[in-house]
Amino acid sequence: SFEWRQNDLMGLMTPITSAGTFYYITHKERHPGTQLPFDPSKKTLVVLGSGWGATSLLKGLDTEDYNTIVISPKNFFLFTPLLPSVAVATRYITRHKARQVSVIEAEATSVDPVNKTVTFTDTSPLQPLSPTNTLKYDYLVYAVGAETQTFGIPGVKEHACFMKEVGDAEEMQRRFLDCVETAAFPGTSEEEKKRLLHMVVVGGGPTGIELTGELHDFLEEDLKNWYPELHPYMRLTLVEALPSVLPMFSKELIQYTERTFKESRIEIMTGTMVKGVTPSSVLLKPKDTPEEEVDCGLVVWAAGNTLRKLTRDLMGKVGEQVNKRGLVIDDHLRMLGAPSIFAIGDCTSTSYAPTAQVASQQGAYLARMLKLIAKRDALENKLEQLTTAHAEGEATDEATTEAGGIKRKIERIKLKPFHYSHQGSLAYIGSDKAIADLPIFGREWASGGVATFLFWRSAYLSTLFSLRNRALVAGDWMRVKFFGR
Ligand code: FAD
Ligand code: NAI
Repeated sequence: SFEWRQNDLMGLMTPITSAGTFYYITHKERHPGTQLPFDPSKKTLVVLGSGWGATSLLKGLDTEDYNTIVISPKNFFLFTPLLPSVAVATRYITRHKARQVSVIEAEATSVDPVNKTVTFTDTSPLQPLSPTNTLKYDYLVYAVGAETQTFGIPGVKEHACFMKEVGDAEEMQRRFLDCVETAAFPGTSEEEKKRLLHMVVVGGGPTGIELTGELHDFLEEDLKNWYPELHPYMRLTLVEALPSVLPMFSKELIQYTERTFKESRIEIMTGTMVKGVTPSSVLLKPKDTPEEEVDCGLVVWAAGNTLRKLTRDLMGKVGEQVNKRGLVIDDHLRMLGAPSIFAIGDCTSTSYAPTAQVASQQGAYLARMLKLIAKRDALENKLEQLTTAHAEGEATDEATTEAGGIKRKIERIKLKPFHYSHQGSLAYIGSDKAIADLPIFGREWASGGVATFLFWRSAYLSTLFSLRNRALVAGDWMRVKFFGR
């Protein structure tokens, strides 16, 4: 149908030109067709979240099978690997579905797994008349992710920046530039310049490493030219409690990253625990030496994940979930003790790392499963009607044969368990270099450098959810390359 429409568009039976294809795709992206309304005979599927897991689910979901409602405090999907620069719309994906999907910008505040309800509240500054509401679900996809772990360390929440949401990235940029501008202010003392331009990143996991790499690029590629007189004062430190950074990567890539950081004048303090943060310093406890207070202008906290309160509350309501590290799910991603809830992504406790790769594969799998579940539910519904008719003595021979056929169809619907396929680990480490551990023909292949960086970029560009965003991100990268940030 695509090719014929192309020809319609051209008004001729000509081969498709790339300009015509581009026009057609962009036109379809901007002008999706009319959507089917909700169908009262369908079950209600509520999706909590609009992150990696939920968006991947929505992409694959056949919305003709359900009345789908998405509840998320963010009306966009955050492409976390490119956090400082990219945010794309959830409504884009839902608007391109066959049946309408209702998107509610709100925060779920409670889930009742017994009565199958979700309570949510609008947390935006402009609130509707009744900001809190409750709705019933038949199936719930629970994909609310996680939040940043602070371990209750004093001063972290008050004085450090985080790197989890778009707002965090904006806040960090604002504070970072504020430090630079204050250091450049006439009369600022030498001591104060040194302090303000010392940036500390806490956590040597992939978030901390990528962020340190980005900060380094910003300092070296842009600020060095804007403020040459401040360059000698700029200092970047990465603090990690474990003996090495990036424990999930192979040993040679860990060494490569540490070497690249040293060459880039980034200090790495491994085996060092951050014990506190003040408005002007961090309190460090190296493994074998006493605590020391180090002055700095900015602390970015990237020390891992913890569960959201909503998830902890939900776990407290289900016996099988009490005292677990995250939502415990079975092979079909159903929450133990609450089989109408499917949980995916960072809110779960599985043998997989909490990554976008896992969450998106779970979302895609669940979309396929929900298709089969809808089919099974429809057959079971029909069977129930026939059984009721039979019990009331209204069944004919044809109805009995039909019931037998339906039973066989139901038996043939097999829900396969979820299987994760690891596509490799990739991380940007600054100076146009990236590292990659890739499984190729059953063996781990480690690579680092500029070529890996180009691979990293192309891999993430192709993962972006729409043509529009691919074009915008590619354009943005070119803009930075030619004109700076
Ligand atoms: P999320 O993507 O976090 O989505 C959670 C959603 O739930 C959000 O839309 C949120 O707004 C919503 N929500 C929150 N609270 C509520 C509520 N109360 N009610 C309703 N909705 C709610 N992984 C990789 O594999 N590769 C990478 O390169 C990579 N880079 C990363 C870079 C950074 C800076 C960060 C922070 C993470 C990165 N990750 C990466 C990890 C990856 O982002 C997560 O594993 C992934 O986002 C998990 O998906 P999720 O759907 O579980 O949660
Ligand atoms: P993480 O849990 O991987 O790393 C956090 C690090 O902080 C740990 O190494 C921990 O030892 C350290 N830490 C904790 N408290 C500390 C303290 N007080 N002082 C010093 N160090 C402390 O968390 P991260 O990096 O946010 O990643 C979360 C998940 O997201 C991971 O599964 C990761 O794989 C994934 N991710 C993947 C990326 C990629 O593939 N490129 C990029 C970013 C995240």
